[in-house]
Amino acid sequence: MENNRIDYTTYHLPELEQDCWDRLVTGAVKSRTPFHTPSIATLHQGEVNLRTVVLRKTLATERELRFHTDIRSPKWQELSQNPSISALFYDAVDRIQLRVKGKAVLHHTNEITAEAWQKTSLSSRKCYLTRFSPSSYTDVSTSGLTDDIEHENFTLAESESGYSNFGIVSIQVQSIDWLWLNHAGHRRAFFDYEKGSFQWMIP
Ligand SMILES: Cc1cc2nc3c(=O)[nH]c(=O)nc-3n(C[C@H](O)[C@H](O)[C@H](O)COP(=O)(O)O)c2cc1C
Repeated sequence: MENNRIDYTTYHLPELEQDCWDRLVTGAVKSRTPFHTPSIATLHQGEVNLRTVVLRKTLATERELRFHTDIRSPKWQELSQNPSISALFYDAVDRIQLRVKGKAVLHHTNEITAEAWQKTSLSSRKCYLTRFSPSSYTDVSTSGLTDDIEHENFTLAESESGYSNFGIVSIQVQSIDWLWLNHAGHRRAFFDYEKGSFQWMIP
């Protein structure tokens, strides 16, 4: 395994930056890859909140990452008040960590959400069909779905009501902090799109 690993010691910064985006693109399209489920951090009233999401789309040229969520969820409310966002990725096989920072742009009932909603399967639409808001407290253990919805005993047309809860968070990437763990010596680089600079760092 160790011998098959990529040797980043010969890489230059531009090709390394391209490698980051290639991995992010793969993470969005292949569910069994490590970058498919990043941790997302938001800041709300001085408190940090973290959660796992599914990376749904990577637009490398636009430096944009997207994930889907329910607009009734706390993270949506938090991001509408403070768009600062961070996404953490780790590939345990290639031993690469990406710390992505950016600003969130929230999409709701627009062209971007309409296109994505159309491609959202019946089972994924269930997430947007809970009667009460995600993260609200209940007296009993429940999915928040009716029995029919839970057992997918509903039509695509009936699932349309979930669209009003469906939101897309787009992360406009401002920087990527890349770290590679290597037994002979780690490597680290910082890609700052705000300043337009690529830098090596001491790991
Ligand atoms: C593997 C995995 C993938 C998840 N994907 C998403 C997702 O794409 N969107 C989402 O809103 N929540 C997703 N969740 C649930 C969130 O981690 C979180 O529990 C929920 O959205 C509530 O977050 P909030 O209270 O910060 O709004 C996922 C959880 C796991 C474990």
